[in-house]
Amino acid sequence: MARRFRLRPIPGAEESVEENNPVLDRREFMRYSFNTAAGVITMASLGSIGFASLLMGTADSSGGDTAVRFWVPTGAEDSTWYGDRHLEPMSYSAFVSASAASSTGMAGAQGVWSGLPVNVMYVPHSENVNAPLVTNQPRFQFLDGYTESGKYVGSGYEIEEPEYSILSIHDNLIVIFSRCPHLCCIPGWQLVQNSFTEEQWTPGAVDAGGNKLFCICHSSRFDPTAIEKNRNRNRSTGAEFDFIGIRRTGGPTPVGLPLIPWVLSGDSIEALPDFKDWYTYCD
Ligand code: FES
Repeated sequence: MARRFRLRPIPGAEESVEENNPVLDRREFMRYSFNTAAGVITMASLGSIGFASLLMGTADSSGGDTAVRFWVPTGAEDSTWYGDRHLEPMSYSAFVSASAASSTGMAGAQGVWSGLPVNVMYVPHSENVNAPLVTNQPRFQFLDGYTESGKYVGSGYEIEEPEYSILSIHDNLIVIFSRCPHLCCIPGWQLVQNSFTEEQWTPGAVDAGGNKLFCICHSSRFDPTAIEKNRNRNRSTGAEFDFIGIRRTGGPTPVGLPLIPWVLSGDSIEALPDFKDWYTYCD
């Protein structure tokens, strides 16, 4: 049985959504919720500022705008390992601890960075990369990416090339922009229980075997261990762009989700806005 959850609105958000938008579809609500969250996190009045202009995180002495913070969906407080850390800055050690309690060594969490929804995934890559490629020994896999029509775009190994090297995998952890390329809902990790999200890992980026990011709107699936290069399109302008990200394994989404570069600052996970064009396709 799937576990139900919903996004946590900022206090007052539900009232103003109702008041100003008597007919608000799911996509708009997702967008509204995270724009409102950004207002709390950055202490800025958003006004007409869109997602793109929120991508201005810069380091400061408090770890402010660059910090990736936990985001706990309402209803998930007791069912997630980070359920009591809503809006706290993410620490690397928290993921290491959570991974130690997992049979696969993987640990993920929903987050928000600079007003954008993200997923952060810890994968025991360095421990497993030289072991036999078998079930439940997860590592990052670097794969070829193809468009929906089967056109080759590029290889996940390009992550090491100068153009993308700031994205290079380090410290067994990746930060993923979390808006579904289908209709812009927010996929999550183990927020619902089904065969795609169960605690298991299968090599080859197949659409089975557990530990997928899952979009509850129309059941799109993404493998957070499968790194590839692919191509997406901005919904407003139609402009196409290539990106490095995780692979779509199933459902109506045309492609996977882009990566966000990040750095470890002390114990803090901080993200960088180098590829902001990759994160505006839903605007
Ligand atoms: S919005 Fe994610 S599957 Fe439709």
